[in-house]
Amino acid sequence: MDTRRFLITGGSQGIGAALVSLARAQGHEVVFTGRDQARIDQVAAESGAVGLQADVAVADDNRRTVEAAVGRMGGIDVLVNNAGVGYLAEVGDIDMERMRALFDINVFGLVDLTNRVAPLLKAQQSGYVFNIASTSGMKGAKTGTVYAASKWAVRGLSQCWQAELRPHGVHVTCVCPSEVQTDWMGRTGRNNPNKLYAVDVAETIMAALAMHGRALWPELAIFANNPWKED
Ligand SMILES: NC(=O)c1ccc[n+]([C@@H]2O[C@H](COP(=O)([O-])OP(=O)(O)OC[C@H]3O[C@@H](n4cnc5c(N)ncnc54)[C@H](OP(=O)(O)O)[C@@H]3O)[C@@H](O)[C@H]2O)c1
Repeated sequence: MDTRRFLITGGSQGIGAALVSLARAQGHEVVFTGRDQARIDQVAAESGAVGLQADVAVADDNRRTVEAAVGRMGGIDVLVNNAGVGYLAEVGDIDMERMRALFDINVFGLVDLTNRVAPLLKAQQSGYVFNIASTSGMKGAKTGTVYAASKWAVRGLSQCWQAELRPHGVHVTCVCPSEVQTDWMGRTGRNNPNKLYAVDVAETIMAALAMHGRALWPELAIFANNPWKED
């Protein structure tokens, strides 16, 4: 595979950090973002990637992020919109401020950053955008209003971007993992070898990148095959 220039949001832990490590291990250039400076520094030191403290919900941070990625790497070939947060509440008990804050990250921030990168990809007539949605964006469930709605939005806008960018040689893939064992929403301590690990999602993205450029995987759902097994 050719060496590619990755920009990954939310690379300081979880799925994003696994992808930073895998892409670096395969010889690619990587700039990633996060909010927690200590975690950013740790992933950068371990992987040799460039880490930036930048909040995807802040427009000026997104401007800085794109400038830094282009400045460091000379361009962007692969944008991975991974940064995302969760909030669970039943209708009747939804905190609208928290809903707006979540949409600022999971949806509006993702759009703002891609809005800045898309012209670069169109100009070079090549590139990849991976949007990390969720199986929560494929099927609604109790307490899912806010998070599921944000991920349905990501699936919908991914289809719009496919229609707009495919004629320019740009691939847009929406990735929908089922439950992954990360610290997402503060959950820790799980270690079931039969459930998904962050590296499984990272490997799926690298598999999509390994396909011939004439092919497109528009949407990928990733499940654990037998998550009911306890050991
Ligand atoms: N874990 C699951 O079960 C699961 C399943 C399906 C989809 N997903 C999706 O996969 C993505 C990654 O989740 P994860 O499980 O890896 O979660 P995680 O372990 O909590 O990691 C989330 C990453 O996103 C970053 N982040 C959060 N808000 C940010 C912001 N405003 N600006 C920049 N970076 C931000 C975090 O950085 P800091 O820690 O430095 O703030 C962290 O690096 C999310 O979009 C999530 O919705 C997760």
